[in-house]
Amino acid sequence: MPILYLAPLQGMTDRIYRNLFPLYFKGVDLAVAPFLSATKSIKPGSLLRDYSPDQNSGISTIPQIMSSGPDDFTRLANALFDIGYGTVNWNLGCPFRMVVKKGRGAGMLCRPDRIEAFLEKAVPALKPKLSIKLRLGLKDPDEILELIPVFNRFPLDELIIHPRTAVQMYDGEVDLDRFGKCLDISRHTVVYNGDIDTVRTHRMLAGRFGSVDRWMIGRGLLGNPFLAEEIKGRIERPYKEKVQILRAFHDHLFAEYSQILSGPAHITNKMKEFWTYSGSFLKNREKIRKSINKTYRRDQYLDVVRTIFDDLL
Ligand SMILES: Cc1cc2nc3c(=O)[nH]c(=O)nc-3n(C[C@H](O)[C@H](O)[C@H](O)COP(=O)(O)O)c2cc1C
Repeated sequence: MPILYLAPLQGMTDRIYRNLFPLYFKGVDLAVAPFLSATKSIKPGSLLRDYSPDQNSGISTIPQIMSSGPDDFTRLANALFDIGYGTVNWNLGCPFRMVVKKGRGAGMLCRPDRIEAFLEKAVPALKPKLSIKLRLGLKDPDEILELIPVFNRFPLDELIIHPRTAVQMYDGEVDLDRFGKCLDISRHTVVYNGDIDTVRTHRMLAGRFGSVDRWMIGRGLLGNPFLAEEIKGRIERPYKEKVQILRAFHDHLFAEYSQILSGPAHITNKMKEFWTYSGSFLKNREKIRKSINKTYRRDQYLDVVRTIFDDLL
């Protein structure tokens, strides 16, 4: 049976999302949380609020840290270990300009020397196991081929590879040939991540990469949260049943977010983010998203969503 991970999507796969998801959808084994920035100013209080085990009853989660400084990284990683996290993930894939400019996320991929120096310092000081999520390179997709021999010298838990460069952002083709090369030369467990949005795509990838049994899915799973159970071979549910379950999940999320977000625009903005990818399997999906994007007040949003779901059922 494949092991399926929910990918981190900042602003979307937060604690509340990960807590409620398994109440409605099956098949996801693990999640990596959206990144925390390791800076000296991070307050243990805020860390504990979002990461304390009693606030994280949902999908079993690996926290992710973005940092180019091994000391800041280790401090935060060890604090997470102390509250119960046996593994942390290092973000080497974030493609956003502000992050890259500071030499963090994918901005480090072109610097194997800095990555090696980071690992030399951090690995001996880390209490949790270390997993790394990365892209093929910043601009050059061959950068990863220089990094893997470096990673091979350290005891890492796994490499999660999204086979795009940072300049590709989330568009263009995933580079399966280079992903295959990475598999050939890595001594670590490799998790595949990128563009799995149907059972058929997963089957194609699983057929091509027989040694991979861990798959991370982001947008495809947010769009169709039944995808994990469909990949695991359970029969596809009837359309109406899927709509009903999505509606119940949506209503539960709305109720939970309402408790922590004050102000009418905060909750509608949060739900607009939810609808960025959600419900890709729904009929009239684009029309739905457009009408939701025109709502600015809580009651107006609820009216629009009620009508949408009533019409779909
Ligand atoms: C809006 C958005 C936010 C993301 N936030 C993160 C993040 O915090 N950490 C991370 O490692 N990747 C992040 N990613 C990348 C995803 O985890 C994933 O690697 C990417 O979407 C490709 O997988 P997919 O095609 O299955 O979605 C983000 C992607 C998107 C679209």
